[in-house]
Amino acid sequence: MNKDELTHHEFSQFAQFLERQCGILLSQNKSYLVKSRLMPLVREGNFGTLSELIKSTISNGQARLRDRVVDAMTTNETLWFRDKYPFDILSNTLFERYAKSRKRVRIWSAACSSGQEPYSIAMLVQEYKQRNPGAFPAGVEIVATDISTDMLARAQKACYDPLSIGRGLSEERKQRFFKVAADKHMELVPNVAKMVTFKLINLLDSYTALGQFDIVFCRNVLIYFSPKNKAKILQQIAACLQKEGILFLGASESIADLSKSFTLVRNNPGLYYQKNTS
Ligand SMILES: C[S@@+](CC[C@H](N)C(=O)[O-])C[C@H]1O[C@@H](n2cnc3c(N)ncnc32)[C@H](O)[C@@H]1O
Repeated sequence: MNKDELTHHEFSQFAQFLERQCGILLSQNKSYLVKSRLMPLVREGNFGTLSELIKSTISNGQARLRDRVVDAMTTNETLWFRDKYPFDILSNTLFERYAKSRKRVRIWSAACSSGQEPYSIAMLVQEYKQRNPGAFPAGVEIVATDISTDMLARAQKACYDPLSIGRGLSEERKQRFFKVAADKHMELVPNVAKMVTFKLINLLDSYTALGQFDIVFCRNVLIYFSPKNKAKILQQIAACLQKEGILFLGASESIADLSKSFTLVRNNPGLYYQKNTS
């Protein structure tokens, strides 16, 4: 067998392990993905073969190795103001609802990857406050979480290479919110960066400790999970949302019949989900 090949049984065991750890489902035709994502770790850790790496990961309980493997298997694709419409709805419709609140407004970016989603929200808050002096008198808190320690570390740095900066950010926002750093990187200005707090959270675990939110972004992550895990996560998110709280999913994701806790609200050209009152 080649160094990068797995038996049917090894692949199934790894798929079960991955779903237990982070919810991601791997169908049998995804063996190319396992190879391409894990072979660099095989070489780096001198495991000899992919099969050896997978055996060690599953059996020896080393948290560091397990986290690296899960990290490598997650898809971290993201960009600024992704899909545009959730951010337009936030800034043109929803902020108005919360702008006079005497309580701090809390927003959660539940799978934040390298930070573009929560920082896009933070930029919108700053822009809204500039247009509406006195808005959000008790402040806005943005909590951003992810399962990947690597992504969280990148997000916390708030410093992006030219390729990431070029994806979804207008020239005007680039000028307003970033300053030039070393190696053509751009660094987010501190007053926007400090609006976001990052935490390590696995969506399969409990997150009641995060407290209650007014708005949750849980975008482009449930798509990788089984209906059972999706339903469980949606139930937990509903429990974290205030009465009539708002949930944004990714453009290709929907609640369908997985949860009865939300009502779909159309706000053309986009949509969001609102938590039901009872
Ligand atoms: C495709 S990115 C989406 C980023 C952003 N929400 C967006 O829409 O641009 C998916 C993120 O989900 C994270 N993720 C995967 N499984 C997770 C889990 N069980 N708990 C928390 N985050 C998870 C990955 O690490 C990755 O950063």
